[in-house]
Amino acid sequence: MSSNRQKSLLLLAGAAAAAGFVAVGYRTWHSSRKRTLLGQMRKRMLLDDSGLIEVRDDFCKQMVAGLNGETSSLLMIPSMVDIIPSGNERGRYLALDLGGTNFRCVYIKLGDGKGQIEDVKIEQCEIPEHHFTSPAADLFTFMAEKMVAFAKTLGFSRGHASERPVVGFCFSFPCQHISLNSGKLIRWTKKFNNPGAVGEDPVRMLEDAFDRIDFPVDVDCMVNDTVGVLAAARYLDSSVMIGMILGTGTNACYVEKIDNVRKLAQTPRRRRQTMIINIEWGAFTSKTLPRLEFDRDLDSSSANPGEMQLEKLTSGMYLGEVTRRILLQFAEQTGLFGGSVPELQTPGSLTTPDTSRIDHDSTFFGGPTGDILRSELGLSHWQTFWDRQLVRDIVRLVAQRSSQLIAAGIAALLRQMERDGTFGPMQRTVVAVDGGMFAHYRAFREELLSALERIMGAEAAHQIVLKHQQDGSSMGAVTMAGAAAGAPSQWRSEAGG
Ligand code: BGC
Repeated sequence: MSSNRQKSLLLLAGAAAAAGFVAVGYRTWHSSRKRTLLGQMRKRMLLDDSGLIEVRDDFCKQMVAGLNGETSSLLMIPSMVDIIPSGNERGRYLALDLGGTNFRCVYIKLGDGKGQIEDVKIEQCEIPEHHFTSPAADLFTFMAEKMVAFAKTLGFSRGHASERPVVGFCFSFPCQHISLNSGKLIRWTKKFNNPGAVGEDPVRMLEDAFDRIDFPVDVDCMVNDTVGVLAAARYLDSSVMIGMILGTGTNACYVEKIDNVRKLAQTPRRRRQTMIINIEWGAFTSKTLPRLEFDRDLDSSSANPGEMQLEKLTSGMYLGEVTRRILLQFAEQTGLFGGSVPELQTPGSLTTPDTSRIDHDSTFFGGPTGDILRSELGLSHWQTFWDRQLVRDIVRLVAQRSSQLIAAGIAALLRQMERDGTFGPMQRTVVAVDGGMFAHYRAFREELLSALERIMGAEAAHQIVLKHQQDGSSMGAVTMAGAAAGAPSQWRSEAGG
């Protein structure tokens, strides 16, 4: 080989080695920036043991303030439910269940035997996008029309006075109850923002909608979805004390001693010793909550800025969007996915079902994660194994923060109920839960259990049974309609008073 040829080969090898060195250095520098940012986020988003206790304690404090009628972000709404289906109800009932991203028409036929359900039908109806912001009367007419079509297929017909169909209403928004079947909407939450409803009675609005289409019905009860879940669970097992929703939104209700509900002190006689309280915990606001800059941005661009802080950190409507915002921050600050990623700019492009699928991707190379990023975000940039790993870490971090905060809420609730072991031996407590986040997001459920262990100790946490109550809100509302229809009418109007 000539010395010239030798020289050029050496030069070439040197250049290749230098390029390789630069590439490896660049990659290492890059990934170390990503790792540093991930570490910083983990520190700011997750709570250590004392942070968890602080959230729980502030939760407890605000629960008591809410029950006393003092300033608190927790509304602690008396549900006015003191009739719970007993299993002795008979007849055919309907219910309308409006809560998350769609609504449901529900039918039940209760037979002669105790607790005998002869027939159940549930039809899920999609809500057209414009109805999330249309005038409230239009949304209610739309639902009434669907309900009438559903009822007719089951042989219901337009009846007069006492023959009108009895309808239960599961209305999953904060309402101040006046009685079991009247109240006032305090505010819309989640995706809903329909003018003409806040301050109005949702029961009257629904009955008016049925009147408008000339199919009058009696709406005998209005319940929050958490109360529906609790009622459905107690129908089968009277030891269930808490109803919880982990879905598009989040909330819980529980059985409280009536003497603790000080704000009810002015109302006259009561029949019962207890009252179901709808906490409206999605609205929990506290300095102890780990909110970061992307949470504040998400809040200000939401339909209800400044409201529902806990819900925005924990529920299915928001976790996908929180993740998208973090990925965008990583792209801009650490060059993830090549740095400039227009695909990540679209709000709402990553949903919680997407992130839950990513979280459940247990493959080594993260192929399914890459597929989801391509198909859902339209991400065309080439992704390395490390990019996909980072995305999985971020998704898990968002779920972990959510599960920690929900665990702190459960721990506070058990303390308020004197069932967390502080006031005597720890008692077994069954929590009935419904909602997509709980039903379909296994990794989230596991994180929730381990966060409960951290905050309460393993022994105490093992006494808490989180029981999935499938279709709980719908079933609760329809069986409550049966219970309310059987109760004397003067009972309904003063229920809980
Ligand atoms: C509502 C609650 C409801 C929860 C779960 C929240 O946005 O304020 O009333 O229970 O969502 O659906």
